Amino acid sequence: MIMQTTFEQEIMDLRQEIRRHEHLYYNMDAPEITDAEYDALFRRLEFLEQEHPELITRDSPTQRVGGAGLDKFGQIPHAYPMLSLSNVFGENEMSDFDARTRKALGSGVTPEYVVEPKYDGVAVELVYEKGTLVSGSTRGDGLVGEDITANVRTIRAVPLRLLPNGIFASANLLDVRGEIFMNRNDFDRLNRSREELGEQVFANPRNASAGSVRQLDSQVTATRPLRFVAHGVGRVEGAAPTTHIEIVQNLARAGLPASLEYTKPCCTIADVLEHYRFLQRIRQDLPYEIDGAVIKINSLTQQAALGVKTRSPRWAVAFKFAPLQATTVVRRIEVGVGRTGVLTPVALMQPVEIGGVTVSRATLHNQDEIDRKDVREGDTVVIQRAGDVIPEVVRVVVDKRPTDSQPYNIPDECPVCGAEALRIPDQAAKRCMNISCPARVVETIRHFVSRGAMDIEGLGVKLIEQLVTKRHVKDPADLYYLDADTLKSLERMADKSASKIVAAINASKSAPADRFLYALGLPLVGEHVARLLMERYTDMEKLSRAGLAELQEIPGIGPEVSQSVVLFFKDPKNKKMLSKFGPAGVAPVSLSQRTSRESPAKDKNFVFTGTLIMPRAEAKALVIQSGGRVTGSVTKKTDFLVVGEDPGSKLDSAQSLGVRVLNEPEFRQLLEA
Ligand code: IVH
Repeated sequence: MIMQTTFEQEIMDLRQEIRRHEHLYYNMDAPEITDAEYDALFRRLEFLEQEHPELITRDSPTQRVGGAGLDKFGQIPHAYPMLSLSNVFGENEMSDFDARTRKALGSGVTPEYVVEPKYDGVAVELVYEKGTLVSGSTRGDGLVGEDITANVRTIRAVPLRLLPNGIFASANLLDVRGEIFMNRNDFDRLNRSREELGEQVFANPRNASAGSVRQLDSQVTATRPLRFVAHGVGRVEGAAPTTHIEIVQNLARAGLPASLEYTKPCCTIADVLEHYRFLQRIRQDLPYEIDGAVIKINSLTQQAALGVKTRSPRWAVAFKFAPLQATTVVRRIEVGVGRTGVLTPVALMQPVEIGGVTVSRATLHNQDEIDRKDVREGDTVVIQRAGDVIPEVVRVVVDKRPTDSQPYNIPDECPVCGAEALRIPDQAAKRCMNISCPARVVETIRHFVSRGAMDIEGLGVKLIEQLVTKRHVKDPADLYYLDADTLKSLERMADKSASKIVAAINASKSAPADRFLYALGLPLVGEHVARLLMERYTDMEKLSRAGLAELQEIPGIGPEVSQSVVLFFKDPKNKKMLSKFGPAGVAPVSLSQRTSRESPAKDKNFVFTGTLIMPRAEAKALVIQSGGRVTGSVTKKTDFLVVGEDPGSKLDSAQSLGVRVLNEPEFRQLLEA
């Protein structure tokens, strides 16, 4: 009996600890422990719960994904209606809103406003009963929404149990309102992998979020990089906030990702407009999309006095930004070939500026997208910047179409090798069927050497193209058989750079195993999945023997990923390629080897400047082997700047940003620690 209570206590403590770290990691961007330490806590909890299944609760951090898929969503009525916002257009209308509000509140009452980003996501309501998440629903018609509880539970930023801090700790019931969204870079990555798989791409991050939230199978939702931000409450029982700011601050204390960072109280309409313009300026630099500002009255008493109209409150308005669009002409449609042979059509356009960036290319994704929008060569098109970098065509200005224009069809031959290109039934993409197509090999190598993969510096696309056309390299393993003489024989290749590249290739031989797996470029195996797989299997040999069922048991690994892994290792061509790595001395370091001698460089960002005594490639390899990262420029995220002889302007940047500066001996010492 006493033993039982001890386990129970440990389980409860672990859950509390894990919840705190999840909040610090996902919502505060301020982790206190390393990933490996977090994983250890999580595994301990999983172990204890396996031993004592009777102690498993629905709000345990281990219980995010689970349960069978649905046939259709149930319905959940909202205790208080989920209203929408009326829009103001232009600064004059904003001032009118201010005048109206002052008049309605009566003389002697001065409104205080709160201005916050208008997140471009999917509106949801989360219900917490005594601190436990009991349901999640979409807005629906405002009165009744769809029951998406199982899907919401998979979003790591959404706590299954609130932290016992702040005024909501005592709330018996709390309806949290907010948006589910996707960061632009996560969205781009998701679309790229869908494109590679020949699946339909999402038009923008909001559609991707909406599609992911409305999946009947929550296992699929769990693989999507969804996030959440809370911007208000509905029904609250057992707590009595008095202002909007107090609400968001306390949502954050309770462990929710709350809209705080760019939320600003403003006393005058001039301040409101200033913050609006500020948000418009930084819009492009935010990792997620916002489409305007929401202006709310801060005092809840004043909100109540102003009341609501039929569908929107009188105490808040949305002030949207002008869209980032422009009109230009499609000169030509070009077809590129990706790693898996997918042919991707790209519109080459007359350069045009959108939001301070010159744009001349836009992806057209695939034939379905071309047909849907009917984009043709010579067309005048409206384009917009949706994701981080890749602009897209919104629509064609049909009035301006040249009379002789023809619908565009992706060719039936690969534009690079001339082999047949086929559209696989049920897939959106056409693929070059020649696995030795030079374009495919070039893309495979480019991915293999890229940052985050094997990180081999100096091997640019021009060099890779030469290596592939001259048949020095047919697959990634061949890189490890290159010598400086072969490299020197290539165009525009100096002796010094050749030996640098060889050093970089050699240094990559002991890259971490998960990066090696990611570098191999299996469909659906991104950095995160690669890490999950290598945590479980430690080396490639073991992973290659894993079966479908076994792979699917790993938390976070679904049937599609498992299928991709099994197919990869079954392919004789891949087997042959893999067998060439070992004899060339490639020996990736397993995660367990790495974490067993935890280094202070782990998960830290390094930048080098000036001339070091040890070769750069070696210094880089040291960092990577210790689990750190090397980047090119000094930013807020940089942890260490390592300076050699004659440092450049990076040193100034580091000093102004307060980044720690190390000289070479200090750097060595740190890594040897
Ligand atoms: S407050 C009654 N704050 O915009 C006030 N809404 O057009 C309700 N939205 O469906 C909303 N960011 O989902 C509020 N910071 C923010 C928001 C926000 C995005 C969404 C919200 C609502 C829609 C209204």
